[in-house]
Amino acid sequence: MYNFNEKADRMNERCRKWDRKVIEEHFGRVPEDFIPLWIADMDFKIPETISNVFQKAVERGVFGYTYVYDEFYDAVIHWQRDMHHVEVEKEQITLTYGTVSTLHYVIQAFCGEGDKVLMNTPIYNPFYHGAIKQRIKCLYNTLSIVNNRYYIDFQRLETQLKEEKPKVYLFCSPHNPSGRVWSKQELLTVSTLCKKYHTILVVDEVHAEQILFGDFTSALSMEKDLTDNVILLASPNKAFNLGGLKTSYAIIPNPEIRKKFKTLLERNSITSPNTFGIMGLIAAYANSRQWLEAVTVYIKKNYEFFESYISERIPELQIMQMESSYLVWVNIEKTGLSSKALTEILAAQYGVLVEDGNHFVRDGEGWIRVNLGTQRENIIEAVRRIESCIRAIDPRRGYLILR
Ligand SMILES: Cc1ncc(COP(=O)(O)O)c(C=O)c1O
Repeated sequence: MYNFNEKADRMNERCRKWDRKVIEEHFGRVPEDFIPLWIADMDFKIPETISNVFQKAVERGVFGYTYVYDEFYDAVIHWQRDMHHVEVEKEQITLTYGTVSTLHYVIQAFCGEGDKVLMNTPIYNPFYHGAIKQRIKCLYNTLSIVNNRYYIDFQRLETQLKEEKPKVYLFCSPHNPSGRVWSKQELLTVSTLCKKYHTILVVDEVHAEQILFGDFTSALSMEKDLTDNVILLASPNKAFNLGGLKTSYAIIPNPEIRKKFKTLLERNSITSPNTFGIMGLIAAYANSRQWLEAVTVYIKKNYEFFESYISERIPELQIMQMESSYLVWVNIEKTGLSSKALTEILAAQYGVLVEDGNHFVRDGEGWIRVNLGTQRENIIEAVRRIESCIRAIDPRRGYLILR
């Protein structure tokens, strides 16, 4: 029914992931036949359930100012109920202009001079920039690795909350870069600790729609006393490939926290939506679940291929199980190269563009992140090139025979 093997015309889209100018600013010169597996968007066309709505808007031909109409709230309420089993009320939902910007607004609304923000590392780096750009100090809770899976060090977390008193804990659920899906018990512990020490729990759930292994628990599924301390950030952007529309939302059950946040948005006139953004969100949430299920199956097959190829043929690499989304976290320590060196060689010599683990704030050395949200043929070719690259490393001298 859907053909995810079909290539979308990304070369003419001016997207950052495929644009040579952007790529060369980031990676330096790369071969003509590069394969970009870095920035987190997918190479699949959006479903017709969304593009038909855009088409009709284009035919109408007018793009005047719009407002947040009821279908937006209904779509969010139904999505959260059907997908994540949580009941949300209309007044708890606030439109925002992309989750990354929202991280910045949250810090602006709740942190002042001398305040601190807590996060687990490695982490999606706008968490760090959201704080640092407002001159707010970051506290890091390094994730522990047990049996090749990330865990939160709760003892340290409690000490940090108690002694350092961060105003806000930015929590990524599921986690980017690893895809780790946190259990209900883990979320309960995080929420309980934040409540106990009066730290607002900001949960970024943008990766919650594509769960490959395990069960996702929404931060809003805890008891009222705990959700009262939560700001939940979500958008259809990752799952439906709508990132360029810059439309997202926050759900804030506590009226006082909500009022403070909305006041900050209003001060910056973040009130009315982008015409296409609101349409896209409604069409995605109301009518595109079948497509999402199908694309998730396709991605899971990409992952299974990638995982089995690497475990059978490239013992120098070790994959952390990709429990959600389409971003796989790969340990490269056995290659003897740093993440930076391997990323640069893969880009310059083999045209395979991946993220250096060091781009995830800290604790990412020894890792790379690979985006599997693309046509299978790209994954097959990329993994062959990665194998050639690893084979060309001289283990004694850590140097490389050129391609
Ligand atoms: C954890 C996380 N939050 C937010 C975003 C971006 O969300 P948005 O497109 O809504 O700004 C990403 C994109 O990769 C992400 O990984």
